[in-house]
Amino acid sequence: MSSPAVLRHHAEQQFAEELAELSKADGMQRPPNWKLSPWAVRTYLCGGPLPNGFQVSAKYIGNVRLIEIAVATLATDRALLLYGVPGTAKSWVSEHLAAAIAGDSTLLVQGTAGTDEGALRYGWNYARLLAEGPSEGALVVSPMLRAMKDGKIARVEELTRIPNDVQDTLITILSEKTLPIHELSTEVQARKGFNVIATSNNRDKGINELSSALTRRFNTVVLPVPETLEQEVEIVQKRVAELGRALELPAEKPAIEEIRRVVTIFRELREGVTSDGATKVKSPSGTLSTAEAISVVNGGLAMAGYYGDGVMRGGDLAAGLTGAIVRDPVQDRLVWLEYLKTVVKEREGWKDLYRACMSVV
Ligand SMILES: Nc1ncnc2c1ncn2[C@@H]1O[C@H](COP(=O)(O)OP(=O)(O)O)[C@@H](O)[C@H]1O
Ligand SMILES: [Mg+2]
Repeated sequence: MSSPAVLRHHAEQQFAEELAELSKADGMQRPPNWKLSPWAVRTYLCGGPLPNGFQVSAKYIGNVRLIEIAVATLATDRALLLYGVPGTAKSWVSEHLAAAIAGDSTLLVQGTAGTDEGALRYGWNYARLLAEGPSEGALVVSPMLRAMKDGKIARVEELTRIPNDVQDTLITILSEKTLPIHELSTEVQARKGFNVIATSNNRDKGINELSSALTRRFNTVVLPVPETLEQEVEIVQKRVAELGRALELPAEKPAIEEIRRVVTIFRELREGVTSDGATKVKSPSGTLSTAEAISVVNGGLAMAGYYGDGVMRGGDLAAGLTGAIVRDPVQDRLVWLEYLKTVVKEREGWKDLYRACMSVV
């Protein structure tokens, strides 16, 4: 059972009630070893009412079709690759898919330049290896091997940060659904229900290509940045409220107007033009993703709660905004200053934000 003192619960713990309700209401066919049917998994991800009136919250806000394709892929023999710019909810969707399908989102391999084959296959407990020689007991099971044995979903975060030769370890696993353990003259055959969700950024330093042999084993779903301002505001509002509750911040729910200002600034800088299409602006070097907008508002809320009167205003957001936008101290600072002077200063009702930002930039 999950302890209330834990800072962040796994999705299957946090949303245990929703998952149980979905399971009860779920009369549709479930793929072998799945906890829920594809219909119920989609409802878990995208939210909606159940026949008994229970309301399932939306985890992913955006195109439902994308989620359906992702879920359907996992019911086939192809693995799923969630691809896109940083902060588009790839990890978030991956966690919730694994929670809904397998009831376990924890079988996770974090891809880095230093990820070795052992992280995707198995390792050895050297003390026991020396004492006993190669044996089942000396084997250290990777999350991938665990998922194969239990018929669950394994998650590989940032797949393309892993060196290509190590990535290729996945080829046998994904095509043969077995993992040979030569040292023990045996193999592990994946149980039904096993599949892999990988995520990958297209805009990272130190990225390796996905090898073509591996590409064919994945179905790629591209998660886009939110289409409209309103959609992005909704995402930020929802996540900030959830985070604020979890962190027990002593602040009121932020006014939607303040969130709209942050998201507007992010979108305009990202797109290089003001929302009315009238003024071209320069884009800073950072990605200014939805995830960063969430952090900025969350940080503003903490400032308002601990140093202000609990109501988040422009002044509480200024430092966080500037920090998110100015990644390069020279170029980005100029871009931000120009935007402040040409756009923020002139906009009706934004003088407070202009002054607050100018005092920290
Ligand atoms: N379309 C969306 N729907 C719901 N939440 C979103 C959406 N886009 C971004 N988020 C939020 O952004 C945060 C960061 O997402 P994350 O999964 O870490 O991004 P990525 O792995 O793509 O870099 C998460 O808290 C998530 O809730
Ligand atoms: Mg991620």
